Amino acid sequence: MLIVGNWKAYVDSPQEAKQLAAATKRAATKTRAKVVIVPSFAHLGFLAKAGRSSVSLGAQDVSLATLGAHTGEVTASMLRRLPVSYVIVGHSERRAAGETDALIAEKTKRALEQGLTPILCVGETARDGDARYLQTLRMQLEAVYSTVLPKDRAKIIVAYEPVWAIGKTARDAISANDLIEMILYIRKVLTPYLPQKGAGKVTILYGGSVEPGNVRDLAGGSRVDGFLVGHASADAKTFSALIQALS
Ligand code: PGA
Repeated sequence: MLIVGNWKAYVDSPQEAKQLAAATKRAATKTRAKVVIVPSFAHLGFLAKAGRSSVSLGAQDVSLATLGAHTGEVTASMLRRLPVSYVIVGHSERRAAGETDALIAEKTKRALEQGLTPILCVGETARDGDARYLQTLRMQLEAVYSTVLPKDRAKIIVAYEPVWAIGKTARDAISANDLIEMILYIRKVLTPYLPQKGAGKVTILYGGSVEPGNVRDLAGGSRVDGFLVGHASADAKTFSALIQALS
């Protein structure tokens, strides 16, 4: 099980970031799940300095740029050297800020070129009656998998995050039954890109209002490989309880 805590812009001061990271590390030592925290760029540097620990680090975004005259950009190579192991690409909040499938595919490539593991977020904005949302999901996945080199495709982690479920409460998350269907659908879409049963081995996370109160049901009932947790990862007590619920 992989638990990824996306702090978004919830954590303000370096002090808070250090405390939250320390509490997460303590919780992570008591579980067999692998735990990753994804702080803002402002906090990544000093959290990375703490060295090896029970918790790995991820970045919330990566630049398309490589080294050079690109003011404001954080490149994949800089992240790798911190070291950061994971990078979130295609989060719905970045898609809402204008990122296209084509751009997300290029960012995924930049991450892979530097040996970072991309966590590719996909998910529909709303559920419509005639299942057009499945088409949205297919397009988001195919844009990336058709661009990435075949040898690198198996390295991508997929996070299914329906936008309608993000930032709410456990009651608003997807049901375990619906999640099973979505995971099967994602594997089906990926089958032509990952032959020889490769699609069955892709790590698929769920994100969208995962909290201590629903994480166990979602995990038990759906064969999901882990979770991408937003608001519940930015509070030490809540995230520790969530990690514990999965132990
Ligand atoms: P949430 O966010 O857990 O606050 O719903 C999840 C995400 O956007 O990654």
